[in-house]
Amino acid sequence: MRRLRGSEPMRRLVRETQLDPAGFVLPLFVVPGEGVRRAIGAMPGNYQLSIDELVKECLEARSLGLGGVILFGIPESKDEMASGAYADDGIVQRAVRAIKREVPGLLVITDVCNCEYTSHGHCGKIVAGDVDNDATLEWLAATAVSHARAGADIVAPSDMMDGRVAAIRRALDAAGFPMTPILSYAAKFASVFYGPFREAAESAPKFGDRRSYQMDPANAREAMREIELDIEEGADIVMVKPAMPYLDLIRMARDRFDVPVAAYQVSGEFSMLVAACERGWLERPRAVLESLTAIRRAGASIILTYFAKEAARLLS
Ligand code: PBG
Repeated sequence: MRRLRGSEPMRRLVRETQLDPAGFVLPLFVVPGEGVRRAIGAMPGNYQLSIDELVKECLEARSLGLGGVILFGIPESKDEMASGAYADDGIVQRAVRAIKREVPGLLVITDVCNCEYTSHGHCGKIVAGDVDNDATLEWLAATAVSHARAGADIVAPSDMMDGRVAAIRRALDAAGFPMTPILSYAAKFASVFYGPFREAAESAPKFGDRRSYQMDPANAREAMREIELDIEEGADIVMVKPAMPYLDLIRMARDRFDVPVAAYQVSGEFSMLVAACERGWLERPRAVLESLTAIRRAGASIILTYFAKEAARLLS
């Protein structure tokens, strides 16, 4: 076996998995204001950005050849009804318009969820102490339509309500956006690895947790059912999230379904690697590329990653 490992040209010739910046999507956090570039403590190198700063980041993403960006919004104020999520002049809607105007050609995905917009931090409408599924679908559908109207190329629901893909598809079609694809966070687990994100997006639930709607980390077959249902409801791309602790599910999804499979290398995965690198325990460029290669090898053709820009530079 060692004959084909003797030199880099030889290894390159027989390499089975290639990384391409076109498959990387960079998550970005947008906040109100101007000239804001607020460092996120638990995610070194990531920022809450006002729209003007966000545009700069997007210009860089485009020049590095990234597949796109995915936007998360932090609104001016939060309420019980998540009104900021579906407002036509909401933070994400304004950000999308600015990017479309100033960074043409960059693919813009929007995260469709309520947790950044509700005063209680849950992903939907609270009825009798829990998130009410069907009432929440109306907010999600309205949010997706408002994003599409602003110019979003893809909408990506991350709330884990049942039936949201069908509800969003129906609403998009009815509103005149039959060509806007849905990237569904189909198998999204109630994971501890979202911790740093909740600081970034100011979206930690004020009571309880998300286990009544996000999946139990122990369940693989159930994940396949989630994905199957989302495809039936009209999802164009399905996602497994987190990525590294769930490589088996990325592989299962790739083998079973013939739609593009995405994976989200989430905030906690990013922060663990960065922390170990900062301590000198891991070598950063290799840690970045090996982690992404593993996710790609498992079967994800699209990777949402906070390392998107860094990895693109390393590959160039
Ligand atoms: C919103 C959402 C979350 C993430 C993406 N969309 C947080 C959550 O569900 O609590 C996590 C992303 C990350 O950790 O990088 N529902």
